[in-house]
Amino acid sequence: MKLLVTGGCGFIGTNFIYHMLAKYPDLSIVNLDKLTYAGNRANLAPLEKKNDGRYSFVRADITDAEAMARILKQHAIEAVVNFAAESHVDRSISDPAPFITTNVNGAQVLLHAAMEAGIQRYVHVSTDEVYGSLSQDDPAFREDTPLAPNSPYSASKASADLIVRSYYKTFGYPAVITRCSNNYGPWQFPEKLIPLMFKLASEDKPLPVYGDGLNVRDWIFVTDHCLGVELALLKGRPGGIYNFGGNAEKTNLDVVQTILRALGKPDDLLTFVSDRPGHDKRYAMDYTLAADELGFAPQYDFETGLAETLAWYQSHRDWISSIESGDYRQFMNDWYGERK
Ligand code: NAD
Ligand code: TYD
Repeated sequence: MKLLVTGGCGFIGTNFIYHMLAKYPDLSIVNLDKLTYAGNRANLAPLEKKNDGRYSFVRADITDAEAMARILKQHAIEAVVNFAAESHVDRSISDPAPFITTNVNGAQVLLHAAMEAGIQRYVHVSTDEVYGSLSQDDPAFREDTPLAPNSPYSASKASADLIVRSYYKTFGYPAVITRCSNNYGPWQFPEKLIPLMFKLASEDKPLPVYGDGLNVRDWIFVTDHCLGVELALLKGRPGGIYNFGGNAEKTNLDVVQTILRALGKPDDLLTFVSDRPGHDKRYAMDYTLAADELGFAPQYDFETGLAETLAWYQSHRDWISSIESGDYRQFMNDWYGERK
């Protein structure tokens, strides 16, 4: 199969490309990425070096309709997985516009090009954040939980989900939507909670926890998300929507304290800062449907996944410094400057 992966130079896309190429010897992948601040082509350098015809990279923007049509045709693409997105909630608060451009317009442009090209396998990668926020006693999100996004990021993802749904209902285009909880693992950009806290703790700098630190996220090791997307690609029902979760609901305080202990750093590095506006209290996933229809089950428990993740970051300190751009430093200074 000839698969187009968009956003493959980001965190989950990188893991997905390695996961799929290792598992399916007959698969070849074209990785299409705009290389925003979050995209790092060097993540896949070993595959480029191999030069065995199974992996290639194209720099392009999913909002560019002409380029999408041309690339799908030129590479005789048979299936598409769309990971390309602006993905950081805090950035969506400080500057929402790029989130609408890529996550809504870009998602539609790519979807439309794939439909026009007659591609019958299409996975749109979405997030649990489209469902909004749970209180402690609410049942976990199901696929039929009403969409109630609270941040510009989650609103842009929910918008794209509705567009994908409309392409199935109106045109019969058999796209599949996946919604996953918070990922962690190798190659995650150090603006997200776990790699950021690793980086700051390693530098003996304060670890900024928003609000009271009692917000809850369900954490899934990234290769378990990759497994879910793989199953959705191969076995997903046309028009299907599938939740994936990691069975690991944790408060942010819990996660940050676990990281400090694992690194042998003192608890007093933990610093409470002013809350993220519109901060969702709790996410939790009911993935019964994916278990029943796709045979999905996460393989990692949080303790094992976190230990593996921290070990990866410890042995890849040069990776963190290599991706710290001026843009990254500027955002971090401005955002955390406002939270003191
Ligand atoms: P990321 O920010 O690490 O990577 C995004 C990638 O998309 C980057 O390589 C970037 O260069 C590329 N990109 C951005 N705009 C583009 C455009 N216009 N055209 C082409 N490429 C573009 O994000 P991630 O954490 O790997 O997330 C990937 C996908 O998974 C996103 O759609 C996100 O909404 C979804 N998701 C993420 C999580 C999570 O915990 N990280 C959870 C559930 C779903
Ligand atoms: P994040 O990794 O940004 O993922 P998301 O907002 O998509 O869930 O944040 C995870 C949780 O950690 C979220 O509740 C916000 C919190 N958080 C902090 O407390 N401090 C931080 O510096 C960051 C980046 C996140």
